[in-house]
Amino acid sequence: MKKKRSTFKGTLGFVLAAAGSAVGLGNIWRFPYLAAKDGGGLFLVIYLILVLTFGYTMLTTEIAIGRLTKTSPLTAYEKLDKRFSWIGKLACLVPMIIMPYYCVIGGWLLKYFITFISGDAQTATDDAFFGNFITSASDSIMATIVFLLICAVIILGGVNRGIERASRILMPILVVLVLIISIYSVTISYSEGGVTRTGLEGLKILFIPNLKGLTIGKFATTLLDAMGQLFFSLSIAMGIMVAYGSYVSDDSDLGKSINHIEIFDTGIAVLAGVMIIPAVYVYMGQEGLSASGPGLMFKVLPKVFAQMGTVGTIIGTLFFIMALFAAITSAVSVMEAVVSSFCDAFHLKRKHATLIETGIALFFGIIVCLGYNVLYFELKLPNGSVGQVLDLMDYISNYIFMPVIAIATCILVGYFVSPKTIVDEVEKNDSTFRRRGMYIVMIRYIAPVLLGILLLQSFSVFG
Ligand code: ALA
Repeated sequence: MKKKRSTFKGTLGFVLAAAGSAVGLGNIWRFPYLAAKDGGGLFLVIYLILVLTFGYTMLTTEIAIGRLTKTSPLTAYEKLDKRFSWIGKLACLVPMIIMPYYCVIGGWLLKYFITFISGDAQTATDDAFFGNFITSASDSIMATIVFLLICAVIILGGVNRGIERASRILMPILVVLVLIISIYSVTISYSEGGVTRTGLEGLKILFIPNLKGLTIGKFATTLLDAMGQLFFSLSIAMGIMVAYGSYVSDDSDLGKSINHIEIFDTGIAVLAGVMIIPAVYVYMGQEGLSASGPGLMFKVLPKVFAQMGTVGTIIGTLFFIMALFAAITSAVSVMEAVVSSFCDAFHLKRKHATLIETGIALFFGIIVCLGYNVLYFELKLPNGSVGQVLDLMDYISNYIFMPVIAIATCILVGYFVSPKTIVDEVEKNDSTFRRRGMYIVMIRYIAPVLLGILLLQSFSVFG
């Protein structure tokens, strides 16, 4: 007898799980940096327009494909059209590539959380602290394993008792922590050399568009940055939303849920900016805002927390536990995209599929850790950046495979299965699809063109 597919219990469970997937490192360490780099409010406006149009289109498509086909990414696309089964293979490969390095970064967060909670925050202010930790293979491998095991245990619990329960507990706590840190960040001030910088001034950097020296080239860069950011942030083209969509019951209101996920993810991304930009500006000035990714999170922020004095240890501890929760719920979704694919395609039991994916993530996670040690190399990537194993894996998945998956999905839906299939799926149970017309134009014409440009830019075609 065919086993009944698990479903999220109620709309809230689905929204929290999908928002948990969306809210992750992308929101916390990349969004604030891009916002500061790309003219603050200008980036924000472009990002918001893209979320409501392009992001919405892709998110709706993937969740609807999942619910319609009731299967995970590896098998979902072939159910729509056999000629497009390769999208499913790629959409299962991408989370397999992302999971190992996401666990490595999750391990870094674990290390910083433990350092802060054990009262050692001061040691983390030394630039060498981060370098020493990631280059000592044994420490970072240990931390990676612990993070990976936390995710595997949640996945083993299944859709309701694992993923949904973890999201229902962790997401509300995350929101409260983000609010506490944001409020603190905008209320601080610091005087240095007779100049006082305030959190409110820092807030202006985030919200007021800086149009000084704006050229078409700079506008295009901002647009592409915002689009690339949106991809990772909304967990699009990673197979995740198809997998989660397949667990949504037929009677839930898909249109409403998608709106809530969008609001949640964008709200937390903006609040991450409110948490980070004013605090960094107050204590480190404008220069502090030029750091991104690991540099921002693991080198600049510990210094900012140290400047806050005793309260900094508390704020730092709250920050790293919040980031850890965000990373766990995202990594769980990345892992679920693979596990559910293995279960559906190869009829494996959840525990066996989890074991296999844990083994794969562990093997490549160790390679990523060794990438800062015995496997160290510096590779110039086609997008102009220089990186090691982690950056190479990030480049292949984010800059090449994900745009390819998204373009192919637009072509599949726009010209082969027809946008009406997706529209009908969303409108089941009288769910309202307010942006219906925009959706059809977007999926057929605008999204594939924008995505094509994004893909070409991965090879620095436009400089
Ligand atoms: N959407 C997840 C993130 O932003 C993967 O980290």
